[in-house]
Amino acid sequence: FETSQEGAIYVAHEIAELIRAKQAKGKQAVLGLATGSSPIGVYQELVRLHREEGLSFQNVVTFNLDEYYPMQPDELQSYVYFMHEQLFDHVDIRPENVHIPDGTLPIEQVKAYCQAYDKLIEACGGLDLQLLGIGRTGHIGFNEPGSASTSTTRLVKLDPLTITDAAKDFIKEEYVPLRALTMGVGTITKARQIILLAWGEGKAKILKETVEGKISDAVPASFLQQHPHTRVVVDQWAALELT
Ligand code: F6R
Repeated sequence: FETSQEGAIYVAHEIAELIRAKQAKGKQAVLGLATGSSPIGVYQELVRLHREEGLSFQNVVTFNLDEYYPMQPDELQSYVYFMHEQLFDHVDIRPENVHIPDGTLPIEQVKAYCQAYDKLIEACGGLDLQLLGIGRTGHIGFNEPGSASTSTTRLVKLDPLTITDAAKDFIKEEYVPLRALTMGVGTITKARQIILLAWGEGKAKILKETVEGKISDAVPASFLQQHPHTRVVVDQWAALELT
């Protein structure tokens, strides 16, 4: 797309169509959601579709990709706060259908919690669609370089570049948590459909490596090349280095 606005509207309409198709069959739509700047326009359009065109989220179940660890849900930087502010508080989703990794757990409970997160996705029928952004390290979710294609939901260390990029939200780099809970690459690629968003020139280099480079854990997003139904939605700036 020429602009990120046009791309975001296209993606929101794809999601709305999925929700409506499931509704028509009396089924739930299971969505994997992302935070960060990339999906904001998508959420804005989904809110508009809810307010102005009667799109209901009553049959929608969501699983967010990740959360900082440790993190309290009421902190401004939490992904719980973000999702409520950008989407959940403005639509008719049932609170019990919203799932976001819990950054408040004591460390000894984290492993079992992460395993249960993956099991719950399966129990809901698996992800119909996973929305992704991409980090400059090539991360999807917080699967930093070195993440295996089969990785599952777990506690990870953030890459120094990711911490630098997150500093704008935390005032100072030293306030950024060093760790996060994230769905694994294997969790993500089990989704039946994936849409990766990339806007702006800052994503051009990593997008080229993701789409045209070697499939490798050095760029975890490159594993998406092996997924049968992934679309990469870009604006003209993110596409600058594609051949
Ligand atoms: C967020 C997430 C991350 C971001 C990525 C890009 O839930 O999983 O992978 O999608 O860091 O962030 P933005 O969109 O802010 O450039």
